[in-house]
Amino acid sequence: MSQNILVTGGTGYIGSHTIIELLNAGYNVICVDNLSNSKIEVLDRIAQLSPSEKLKFYQLDIQDRAALSQVFSENNIDAVIHFAAFKAVGESVLHPLKYYHNNIIGSLVLLEVMQKYQVKKIVFSSSAAVYGEPAATPIREDFPTFATNPYGFSKLVFEQVLDDLRKADDTWCILKLRYFNPVGAHSSGLIGEDPNGIPNNLMPYISQVAVGKCKYLNIFGNDYPTPDGTAIRDYIHVVDLAIGHLLALDYLNKHAKSLLTLNLGTGMGHSVLEVIHAFEEACGKKIPYKFVSKRSGDVAKCYADPTLANQLLSWKTQFSLLQMCCDSWNWQSKNPNGYA
Ligand code: NAD
Ligand code: WQD
Repeated sequence: MSQNILVTGGTGYIGSHTIIELLNAGYNVICVDNLSNSKIEVLDRIAQLSPSEKLKFYQLDIQDRAALSQVFSENNIDAVIHFAAFKAVGESVLHPLKYYHNNIIGSLVLLEVMQKYQVKKIVFSSSAAVYGEPAATPIREDFPTFATNPYGFSKLVFEQVLDDLRKADDTWCILKLRYFNPVGAHSSGLIGEDPNGIPNNLMPYISQVAVGKCKYLNIFGNDYPTPDGTAIRDYIHVVDLAIGHLLALDYLNKHAKSLLTLNLGTGMGHSVLEVIHAFEEACGKKIPYKFVSKRSGDVAKCYADPTLANQLLSWKTQFSLLQMCCDSWNWQSKNPNGYA
């Protein structure tokens, strides 16, 4: 029988791509989202790309214990993939309480309800933000953790909660996935990243320059100790990331009592200028840019050592930087105003 997977934050960017892969792999999906950072239209798009009769949606806030309990009582849930969180680093510095409240309290309520219903398998969306300023690259999972902003700390705190829970009760199966820089979109161009307002992140900003919504890109810093002076990140295609979640579920099904932390990145670093050049190739246009001062909190180099995930999940990324840019452009050019 197909398993029933609860996906929190499932109408968001990574959640929607993961739901498509789950449905196409035969899982039943119960998606919960309060639509605080996503649009209901996503569900129609998912239905065009996967067997939507296997998808149920509940609009709710995971902090709402009664509503969440109702979902568990109506569905025989086997495992949870927990995406729901606020994720804007800059906003977390301005509004730390908002971030700690949503990301910690919401996640605690989820665990308590899971415990009540004896659902003890969870895949948690953590972030490379937990490495703070890494002492070296590539970054391994056993590197020291620290955060430079409340968003990163909210991930670190919840990782600790999961560790302590597993220590107290070894019947929990827990996989913490630390994503690097997710970009790209589904190859159909039907779903993609749809940030509210002016984008904070590089790929959506470049996409909006290419489509004419922003005039030029500000490159934050050109004197980093990197070959071209711009900062280096590990960009990973969102579909590679989504597939990582399916393999994570397989792992939890095969390994009872696991507690594992894995990097999900390609293992390759690309500079801001390299991303711009790949995007220019993808869209056939010039991307105008200006160098401005460094953004506070940015590090020179951040890329993963994904060996553990490669070995334990049999997971390997497939998409090149050029393909990530082609798919971002395909999404942005077909949906210049996102889902609106
Ligand atoms: P997203 O904002 O697109 O998706 C998150 C979804 O969660 C949204 O649909 C939002 O409406 C929902 N949500 C937020 N709080 C909620 C609550 N209390 N109750 C119900 N729904 C709620 O973000 P994303 O890029 O898809 O990220 C998914 C997860 O991955 C997040 O936990 C994020 O911190 C983590 N992550 C993201 C990145 C990235 O760069 N995108 C990198 C590393 C980790
Ligand atoms: C990438 C590079 C910028 C915008 C963030 C979070 C991290 C994780 C992934 C959630 C950097 C440069 C950017 C622009 C630029 N998210 N840049 N001009 O900061 O590596 O990671 O998303 O967990 O926690 O911090 O991603 O896309 O913002 O920046 O020059 O307009 O592009 O300086 O070097 P970042 P990003």
